[in-house]
Amino acid sequence: MRTFLSALLLALFVGVSAQRTIQWKFVQNGTSGVIPVELITISPTLMLMYDRADGNPLRLPDGERAWAALWDLETNTPTPLSSVTDTFCAGGAFISNGTLVSVAGQPQETPGQPPADGRMGIRLFGPCASPTGTNCTVFEDPANIHLAVTRWYPTGLRIPDGSLMVLGGSNTPTFYNTGPSAENSFEFFPSKPGELGAVRPSQFLLDATPVNMFPRSVVLPSGRVFMIANNLSMIYDIETETEHRLPDLPNGVRISNPFDGTMQLLPLSPPLYEPTVLVCGGSSADDRRPATNLTILDPATDQCSRLTLTTAGVAKGWQIERMPEPRIMVESVILPSGDVLLLNGAKTGYAAYPSVAGSNETQSNADNPGFRGMLYKTSSPAGRRISQDGLPTSNIARLYHSVASLTAKGNIMVAGSNPHPAVVPPPTKFPTEFRVEYLNPDFITNNLPRPVIHSAPTQILFNQKATLEVTIPSNLRNGDIKVSLIDMGYVTHGQHANSRLVFLEHTLVGNTLTITAPPNNNIYPPGPAWIFVVADGVHSEGAMVMVGDGGDPPRPDQGVKISLTSL
Ligand SMILES: *[C@@H]1O[C@H](CO)[C@@H](O)[C@H](O)[C@H]1NC(C)=O
Ligand SMILES: *[C@@H]1O[C@H](CO)[C@@H](O)[C@H](O)[C@H]1NC(C)=O
Ligand SMILES: *[C@@H]1O[C@H](CO)[C@@H](O)[C@H](O)[C@H]1NC(C)=O
Ligand SMILES: *[C@@H]1O[C@H](CO)[C@@H](O)[C@H](O)[C@H]1NC(C)=O
Ligand SMILES: *[C@@H]1O[C@H](CO)[C@@H](O)[C@H](O)[C@H]1NC(C)=O
Ligand SMILES: *[C@@H]1O[C@H](CO)[C@@H](O)[C@H](O)[C@H]1NC(C)=O
Repeated sequence: MRTFLSALLLALFVGVSAQRTIQWKFVQNGTSGVIPVELITISPTLMLMYDRADGNPLRLPDGERAWAALWDLETNTPTPLSSVTDTFCAGGAFISNGTLVSVAGQPQETPGQPPADGRMGIRLFGPCASPTGTNCTVFEDPANIHLAVTRWYPTGLRIPDGSLMVLGGSNTPTFYNTGPSAENSFEFFPSKPGELGAVRPSQFLLDATPVNMFPRSVVLPSGRVFMIANNLSMIYDIETETEHRLPDLPNGVRISNPFDGTMQLLPLSPPLYEPTVLVCGGSSADDRRPATNLTILDPATDQCSRLTLTTAGVAKGWQIERMPEPRIMVESVILPSGDVLLLNGAKTGYAAYPSVAGSNETQSNADNPGFRGMLYKTSSPAGRRISQDGLPTSNIARLYHSVASLTAKGNIMVAGSNPHPAVVPPPTKFPTEFRVEYLNPDFITNNLPRPVIHSAPTQILFNQKATLEVTIPSNLRNGDIKVSLIDMGYVTHGQHANSRLVFLEHTLVGNTLTITAPPNNNIYPPGPAWIFVVADGVHSEGAMVMVGDGGDPPRPDQGVKISLTSL
């Protein structure tokens, strides 16, 4: 009876404190002009999109068809951006001085014609201060600034010293990564002392072939890097150059390309900043089956798996949850509340250009688009976290080469989809998709009162306090107030590299919000971030801030050491 009563009380308590269900709505506005194979939020008003030179409708001033563009969130129009090398299926990150670095890409398609071979490309963009992107250009010097080896489908990760770590990739235009092994390695930009032109071979990436492209990775609060490729996981220590294997993803689920699932680091909270990763979607198909034996109707997995990267968490192992629908090529967007939106992708098939059985009919490796998103409520009890409540159904298929990213306005930009190796207009089952949609929460749709950040610092130093002037609408003041420091990531192929949310310690007195920056550069690798204020589940627009001293990488340790449970 006692147990029953306490269960009842607990249920009531959970019921009372449960978040309001946000009603989301899709609004279509504008066309992207290029396919945003890669989408990165770069300022309050601009998104950067990288594609391939593909016969896109958008043209550069010289008449050349564009393969990159800046998307203006105010006008819903793209402005072409030129680059020297081919940006197709590159990876990247912001580094400690605020420059966005994009690395690698595809081989040259037409000899003698732009773009140049992108596989060793290093492209530097910004910071871009102009709200419309005037004079913001991609800087490249391929003869002098390039990767050590050719790569395609690599991951870019900003590490605690603020430089870029480049992970893996492929070398061959095939479904599986069966090519030479030089790219099964790590390298850095700028190079580590004595490592210019050299790579660090990775046994882990080699073992993860042939499903090891775009390895999912995240910097842990210990400064080490957690990685998943195929169904394998490990922790890499950058200093000692050692790989430490952790348990495989359960049930044969694989999440790197071409079996793309998605990974997010769940919010880090003071004082312990215990890291938990969430992995959703992908495929549990046997990776020994040749591509021609896989089919567009093979079911994707509905599995989400979660692992806490502490000694106790790893001993407990991967905890499994189920999505209402299976998904391959699912995108995950961490919201300022700490919840995770799961959207785009398909219920069956695979990533990559048509190569599996049945794709000759659909011209797509995937079929049965997932038109409706799902919300992962991070702080709800296990088994009750994932639902489609409040989420609308789109009528636009978002398959291979589609993306979704949080914007500075606090909504989600959803764009792209092109399962074809060229621009293919309708009529075809899954045409090249240029239509841009926003997924808006009800408080944006209905213009309801939101927290407003009136002024915020443009830079915060580790472990230091800073103040913001804010207004919290009176109807939201009784709810929980959170301050989120977010890296929105470099979005491509279901991976949101560098995506990170750190809840900041704060006090609110009147309209003055005093925050404490993350304790050190392992908790938030130094570089650009966005501050959002969340009151009773309703978030403000984001304020852009530089975290750390803003200098060129590598930066020495910043802030204070704290005691941690993180591996
Ligand atoms: C689309 O965006 C433009 C530019 O911001 C705006 O004027 C227009 O009202 C928007 N249309 C819809 C349907 O939201
Ligand atoms: C852009 O660059 C040109 C040439 O350097 C300069 O004349 C112009 O003022 C710049 N515009 C802005 C908005 O910075
Ligand atoms: C991971 O995949 C390999 C084959 O690629 C398989 O042998 C192994 O059993 C898988 N691990 C789990 C836990 O399913
Ligand atoms: C895949 O291979 C298995 C085993 O040889 C076979 O039974 C199956 O029909 C094949 N499927 C396709 C689509 O080729
Ligand atoms: C697709 O391939 C299958 C198996 O080889 C074949 O039966 C079918 O006719 C092909 N369809 C088209 C449209 O080429
Ligand atoms: C940022 O650092 C990189 C690496 O040293 C450098 O190439 C780039 O020019 C720097 N960006 C700015 C804006 O100074």
